[in-house]
Amino acid sequence: MTGVSLMPDAAHPLGSLSAVESQGLPIEGMHKFLPLNTMPSPTLRTESKPAALTPAAVVSMMNQTVPKTAKLTIGDLQIDLPMLIGTENEIAIDIRQLRAKTGAITYDPGLGNTGACSSKITFLDGEQGTLRYAGYSIEEIAQKSNFVEVMWLLLHQRLPLAAELAQFSHDITYHTMLHENLKQLFSSLPKSGHPMAVCAASVGALSTFYQDSSSGSDEHNWISAIRLLAKMPTIAAYSYKHSIGQPFMYPRNDLSYAANILYMLFGTPCEKYEPNPVMVRALDLLLILHADHEQNCSTSTVRTVGSSGANLFASVSAGISALWGPLHGGANQDVIEMLLSIREGKRTAKEFMELAKKKDSGMRLVGFGHRVYKNYDPRAQILKKACYEVLDQLGRKDSLLDIAIELEQIALNDSYFVERKLYPNVDFYSGIIYKALGIPVEMFTVFFAIGRMPGWVSQWLECRKDPETRITRPRQMYTGATVRSYTSVEKR
Ligand code: ACO
Repeated sequence: MTGVSLMPDAAHPLGSLSAVESQGLPIEGMHKFLPLNTMPSPTLRTESKPAALTPAAVVSMMNQTVPKTAKLTIGDLQIDLPMLIGTENEIAIDIRQLRAKTGAITYDPGLGNTGACSSKITFLDGEQGTLRYAGYSIEEIAQKSNFVEVMWLLLHQRLPLAAELAQFSHDITYHTMLHENLKQLFSSLPKSGHPMAVCAASVGALSTFYQDSSSGSDEHNWISAIRLLAKMPTIAAYSYKHSIGQPFMYPRNDLSYAANILYMLFGTPCEKYEPNPVMVRALDLLLILHADHEQNCSTSTVRTVGSSGANLFASVSAGISALWGPLHGGANQDVIEMLLSIREGKRTAKEFMELAKKKDSGMRLVGFGHRVYKNYDPRAQILKKACYEVLDQLGRKDSLLDIAIELEQIALNDSYFVERKLYPNVDFYSGIIYKALGIPVEMFTVFFAIGRMPGWVSQWLECRKDPETRITRPRQMYTGATVRSYTSVEKR
């Protein structure tokens, strides 16, 4: 295949916002993507977008004009591909007809350039370091909201009315208990097993207790969503209690979502345990910051499994497994272990940095870098500040915070990290707060999973309702042997 080029077509003026409003179509009610020439767009931040378009196209965009189609030339064949734009001006080339028209597929390992779905839930601009839940900035949400409200926001993409919030809060409080037989599943697993494996198994097992989850009806999907959001803290706490051989603590309906988690984790039947309000607020903040992050590895997994028609529990169980990996949510455990090994004198911060820069060392600076953020992860920014506040409010000091700050300073002044735009991600500072709350290191990723649950559930529900959803089934570039004849084992 030679002479492949992807060029924007001639520019077309953008439709104006008033033109759309005059048709009585609120933006929310419009089809999620409109062809570029009909989509209202205030400005395009071309300066922050990766430089993929021709200078002429960039100029036309700055003049508020955008191409309607992209032209793809493969040898003598030229086709037009429609261009789409999202509500935050993200542009996409619609390649759904590509293979049918050309026989070619796109090659994009890791899907870094591929929009696999459209979504109204979370917006993320990695170049600017922006994160919004249904339009609300993560900074404002972290300051003013709480995790239960954030769950509702992600599920419905609008803030709840007082009565809606009260009903939802009631529902996820009154579905927290696990079926007594499910408790036996924990007992049958080794105590030394990682709690993420225990959680994945338990969430998967929920579909054996709630077989209506496979009916596929909207009503049953919603009931499954409530059950999962309500029961995940109980499952998480039981996975810990099992690992240390303590009795499981039944949930308490008089406590808030976050307070109940701490109670089930740290309470025992022998004495009264009242969660510390500072710890409750700190945990609530952590959960809010983890609640959704658009099409990350675990969420894509949940959507992929769900696209086959599998039920919510099966899909989220797969998402928990994806989150466990050290390149994803598992990094929060690795960060603390790295900081501890520096404190214990096994390696200095500088030695860690040097190893992370050497490709053959097999090491990376955990808690640094991100597929999408090429700027400071706004969640890490909030958590860094929260580390100081929480330690101060709890009257504690932690030298791990000093080590983390030192590592960050070295990295932000090192050309290797600067050139690659590697900044601290959400996992870099979260562990210091988890540790201050007394949460054991192997439970860090489980807490990430509790936080991410509303994101997984919301994305799964959205995927199931989207008429454009198709079973996820990518293509491949085959590079193996071409056709050959079978030789029997004696003759090989
Ligand atoms: N330390 C050292 N070098 C790094 C790091 C790091 N943490 N992250 C990326 N790089 C380098 C890569 O070696 C590569 O260098 P090269 O261009 O010379 O080959 C370049 O930066 C780009 O990295 P990629 O691996 O191509 O980036 P990708 O988007 O595929 O990976 C990832 C993103 C997995 C997060 C990566 O940055 C990483 O491994 N970070 C450490 C693990 C981590 O913190 N994960 C949590 C992420 S946040 C979350 O999932 C909740």
